[in-house]
Amino acid sequence: MATHSMIIPSSSSSSSSSSLAAAASPFKETLPLFSRSLTFPRKSLFSQVRLRFFAEKHSQLDTSNGCATNFASIQDSGDQLTEEHVTKGESTLSITVVGASGDLAKKKIFPALFALFYEGCLPQDFSVFGYARTKLTHEELRDMISSTLTCRIDQREKCGDKMEQFLKRCFYHSGQYNSEEDFAELNKKLKEKEAGKISNRLYYLSIPPNIFVDVVRCASLRASSANGWTRVIVEKPFGRDSESSGELTRCLKQYLTEEQIFRIDHYLGKELVENLSVLRFSNLVFEPLWSRNYIRNVQLIFSEDFGTEGRGGYFDQYGIIRDIMQNHLLQILALFAMETPVSLDAEDIRSEKVKVLRSMKPLRLEDVVVGQYKGHNKGGKTYPGYTDDPTVPNHSLTPTFAAAAMFINNARWDGVPFLMKAGKALHTRGAEIRVQFRHVPGNLYKKSFATNLDNATNELVIRVQPDEGIYLRINNKVPGLGMRLDRSDLNLLYRSRYPREIPDAYERLLLDAIEGERRLFIRSDELDAAWDLFTPALKELEERKIIPELYPYGSRGPVGAHYLASKYNVRWGDLGEA
Ligand code: BG6
Repeated sequence: MATHSMIIPSSSSSSSSSSLAAAASPFKETLPLFSRSLTFPRKSLFSQVRLRFFAEKHSQLDTSNGCATNFASIQDSGDQLTEEHVTKGESTLSITVVGASGDLAKKKIFPALFALFYEGCLPQDFSVFGYARTKLTHEELRDMISSTLTCRIDQREKCGDKMEQFLKRCFYHSGQYNSEEDFAELNKKLKEKEAGKISNRLYYLSIPPNIFVDVVRCASLRASSANGWTRVIVEKPFGRDSESSGELTRCLKQYLTEEQIFRIDHYLGKELVENLSVLRFSNLVFEPLWSRNYIRNVQLIFSEDFGTEGRGGYFDQYGIIRDIMQNHLLQILALFAMETPVSLDAEDIRSEKVKVLRSMKPLRLEDVVVGQYKGHNKGGKTYPGYTDDPTVPNHSLTPTFAAAAMFINNARWDGVPFLMKAGKALHTRGAEIRVQFRHVPGNLYKKSFATNLDNATNELVIRVQPDEGIYLRINNKVPGLGMRLDRSDLNLLYRSRYPREIPDAYERLLLDAIEGERRLFIRSDELDAAWDLFTPALKELEERKIIPELYPYGSRGPVGAHYLASKYNVRWGDLGEA
């Protein structure tokens, strides 16, 4: 039957252990027996949807919304599904957002789904379900999410119509997170919408981690697809340390195969983070310099100009190291430092990232500085301290700032400090990667520098946000009869070069999960390796009750961060910036 040929394996790589797990899992990605003889690559069904969409739109390969980037691979894939299969509308997609009334769902997930719909990236036949405990009608859910939907700046036409069409496909089901009966009810509703077609189901768990396993159990046993794939996106925190993370993985794997679990780290969906590999691997000028021979240090910097307002309850159990460093910054580091992968396939890239993580030394307590923001008055305004938050215990030692020095023990990076800095309630908001290069040996122009040579090395800055851009600091002659050098930037500012809105990270990641593309999701061995690096220092910080250095709300953070950097002969690159 033609319909069967549409059930496809979601990954080209499947280890024997994962196929065993698949056999045991009720949530397994369905693979009809005869389909083994077919050569479907991991993206088929929705790539075809994209194919149709882009064929219709005569889109260019370099369009920025993410849809077009896979266009080449579709054509190269030798995929045996035809457009005809898709246009027949024989399969459906249901996306269930569990925890639909939460902040993340409202601010990020529903708007991202709408953006995908708006861009024509969702399949013809889809529905979105909100699932939460609160009793809501479909209309109330629609009202709630309609307030956060936005249209692309460059394509506002018919936005109202599009919103209406999208909202009509949104439904609500109220239920407990640990009730199999409630999920069985959800299953009935999903089936009604699926109307006997091949059903693919995506669950987005936008809920606290302590109920992940309950939801996965109930959904797996009572509301997984009978004839298509079922995938689950989980959002961090994935545990608090190696042990709890391992336990969570073990529990999830009672009901899901590794192939069905999409561990999201939304920083991997950010445009400039995606571009990191392009920058390195498709520009001859960078890759040869990408090693200890030319790079003096690498800095990964995250800062927010607001505190934990409203999220103190969550934050206090985790702290900034678990909230930002162990995942967002470490993921960027792994992508930055990995060897050239064999191909752009998810497994090849993730294997290279794991190798980097496993080559790193676990963070040592003497290489960490922690801080916590305190209340501050500025310009007649009072900014609250972290412990002023009513949901935070008065004597909390949870760090809202941390700086750390890490090292990679391999031939490429031996001895190069990778410095991380992350903080809340600082003077500015931003995320960037700074690469400081070594001095020019025997520099002929030594005497022409107004400042000392230390400040005059080349620096490559990849600004992830805001105001995305890449710039390279070079030394340049100041025009005139004399010979004076100064530092200038070769500047690629995205808003000038690409004056269109950059898709939100969640759009890219949701689309990838729908397509079964795992490149930007965290594999369980990556997660284990990441926790192994941070768990010992985290334990020590907590057991020894290390008191964080206080810094005023809106400042540049604790001075300890500078001592840490200077221990490794490094100067934070963001210091000279506004
Ligand atoms: C989340 C953290 O993962 O990332 C938050 O839990 C943080 O504390 C957020 O504010 C930052 O994300 P973005 O995309 O706004 O930089």
